[in-house]
Amino acid sequence: MKKLMKGGRFTPENYSAEVEERIQKYRKLDYRLPPRKILRTPEQIEGIRKSAVINTGVLDYVTENIREGMSTEEIDQLVYNFTIEHGAIPAPLNYEGFPKSVCTSINEVVCHGIPNKNVILRSGDIVNVDVSTIFEGYFSDASRMFMIGEVSPEKKKLVKVTQECLEIGIAAAQPWARLGDVGAAIQEHAEKNGYGVVRDLCGHGVGVHFHEEPNVEHFGRRGTGTIILPGMTFTIEPMINMGTYKVFINKSDGWTVLTEDGMPSAQWEKMLLITETGNEVLTY
Ligand code: MF3
Ligand code: CO
Repeated sequence: MKKLMKGGRFTPENYSAEVEERIQKYRKLDYRLPPRKILRTPEQIEGIRKSAVINTGVLDYVTENIREGMSTEEIDQLVYNFTIEHGAIPAPLNYEGFPKSVCTSINEVVCHGIPNKNVILRSGDIVNVDVSTIFEGYFSDASRMFMIGEVSPEKKKLVKVTQECLEIGIAAAQPWARLGDVGAAIQEHAEKNGYGVVRDLCGHGVGVHFHEEPNVEHFGRRGTGTIILPGMTFTIEPMINMGTYKVFINKSDGWTVLTEDGMPSAQWEKMLLITETGNEVLTY
């Protein structure tokens, strides 16, 4: 592999002179810049893209097949089979001891729900299916919400506003902006609707590892946090609660995150590549 980093610089060698100059300017001003190891080389971007295409394929396959009466274990089987048939590996499987290939989180489950043959999708449920894929060593990540049967207007609104939060966050994730700009934009929209933004879990760098720098919080203040640079790949994945933002982890399985007040929670997730002119959504 060719050497892609210049000594002492933050920048991959394919940055334009303009970008290089601007980075040095911010560096002198002592702004917080991302570590160079998370700025992707063209080779890495190509690999991450391929992984992302499979990840989107898995979620499309789930979208076509998910239905009322199905167990979350069956969703796990759909994900496992599709992923393996496409020469990839489900990233959650055995990740820090996670026992399944996908996270399935229903209603008051915020995230990291473990598929189970006894958990059945019922009319009125809202369920998040969170899919992550490893292909040729590169990682991708995305999640979607599904509404099963007849869903209440309140839950429908939560799902819709959460999707808007993701899109608003994506719009704020521009090169030279700050990660605090992304969080602030999401938090404003959620709280304007009377919802709580989960604080204890965040988006993350992804691509070379499953979870890497930076942490992408879904709340915050504009003009704070790490500068967003071209070449970064990270997720935005707001978890928005109908009631309190507070959550807890189910002690008996060590994974399932639940809302403290038992009210529903929604989440949508996409993965972005920051470019010199904006961003590119890699997973849907
Ligand atoms: N896919 C989740 C995310 O968006 C992480 C799941 S970790 C697991 O970051 F182990 F629960 F799968
Ligand atoms: Co993620």
